[in-house]
Amino acid sequence: MTHLELTGVAIDFPTSRGPFRALDGVNLKINQGEFVSLIGHSGCGKSTVLNLVAGLYEATEGGVVLEGKEVREPGPERAVVFQNHSLLPWLSAYENVELAVKQVFRNTKSRAEMKEWIEHNLELVHMSHALHKRPDEISGGMKQRVGIARALAMQPKILLMDEPFGALDALTRAHLQDSLMEIQARLNNTVIMITHDVDEAVLLSDRIVMMTNGPAATVGEILDIDLERPRNRIELADDVRYNHYRHEVLSFLYEKQHKPVEGDSQSAAPAQKAAKTAADAPQLAQDMHIVKSTPGETTASTAA
Ligand SMILES: Nc1ncnc2c1ncn2[C@@H]1O[C@H](COP(=O)(O)OP(=O)(O)OP(=O)(O)O)[C@@H](O)[C@H]1O
Ligand SMILES: [Mg+2]
Repeated sequence: MTHLELTGVAIDFPTSRGPFRALDGVNLKINQGEFVSLIGHSGCGKSTVLNLVAGLYEATEGGVVLEGKEVREPGPERAVVFQNHSLLPWLSAYENVELAVKQVFRNTKSRAEMKEWIEHNLELVHMSHALHKRPDEISGGMKQRVGIARALAMQPKILLMDEPFGALDALTRAHLQDSLMEIQARLNNTVIMITHDVDEAVLLSDRIVMMTNGPAATVGEILDIDLERPRNRIELADDVRYNHYRHEVLSFLYEKQHKPVEGDSQSAAPAQKAAKTAADAPQLAQDMHIVKSTPGETTASTAA
C-alpha cells in the first residue's frame, strides 16, 4: 500500500510581483520503509517539497496524503532535519533531544528510559562527549549531528532530511551515512532525503527522484537503485551497476537539466538566485568533470 502520496501538487508563493509558482504537477508515491532521495539544482524546489510533506507549507493545488490522511500541519510522526540545524540555543544538546523525546514518549517511557534513549541517540551520532554543551559551544557539524539525533529519537514514521550531511567533513559524513543505513534497516522507517551529492544519493537510496529546474519545477525522472543491502561503500566503488546509476544522475543534472542561469527564470528571489548561480560557476566546472570516487564521500555534487 502506498504510504505517502503527493498528487498534482503545485505551490504559489506570494511575492511583490504576484504569485510565484515554485512547484507544479508534482506526483510521487512512496512506500513504507522506502529510502527516497530528492536531487536537483539549487533553487528547484526540493526544500519546498519537504516542507509540504512536513506540513509546514500548504499546497496551492493538489495535496499530500499520509496513510490515507491529508497532511495539513506538522506532526511528530514526520520528523525533520533542516538544512540549517534548528536547535534551541538556550538548551544543551541533551535538552534539545529531550524536548522532542518528551513530546513523543511522555506517556510510554519512564524518566529513566527517556534518559537512556536520549543518550543512546546522541551516542549514535557520536555526541556523548558534549551532551551538556549548548549550540553556541559546539561546531556546525556537531549541531547538525544533534539535529539528526533529535529526529531519530522521535522514532518517526517518516524521516525528512534536508541535506543532513552537507556541512560535515567527509569522515563524519561517511560514518553518519552508514549509521543512517543501519538505523533505517532496523527501524524500517520511510526516509526522504534531499542531497546535492550524487554518490550519497546512489549509496543510500532505493529510488532517486530527480527534479527539473524551476520555476514550476516537477519530478523529471525517477531512478530505481537496485543494489542489495547492506551496502558497502568500498565494494560499490568498483561495481558497474553503481557507476551506471551515478552516471544516470549526472547525465540528468548536467545534460538534460542545465543549471539555471541568470535571467532565464522568473524567480521570486532573483537577486539571491543570481548570486547563487555566479557563486556556483566554478563548482559547476568541477562537477562536469566526472571524477571517480568512493561512494558517499565525495565530490560529484550539484552545488557547493
Ligand atoms: N517562502 C518563500 N517565498 C517566496 N519564494 C520562495 C519561498 N520559499 C522558496 N521560494 C522559492 O521557491 C523556489 C524553490 O525553493 P527551495 O528552497 O525549495 O529550493 P531548493 O531546491 O531547496 O534549493 P537549495 O538546493 O538551494 O536548497 C526558489 O525559487 C525560491 O526562491
Ligand atoms: Mg533547499
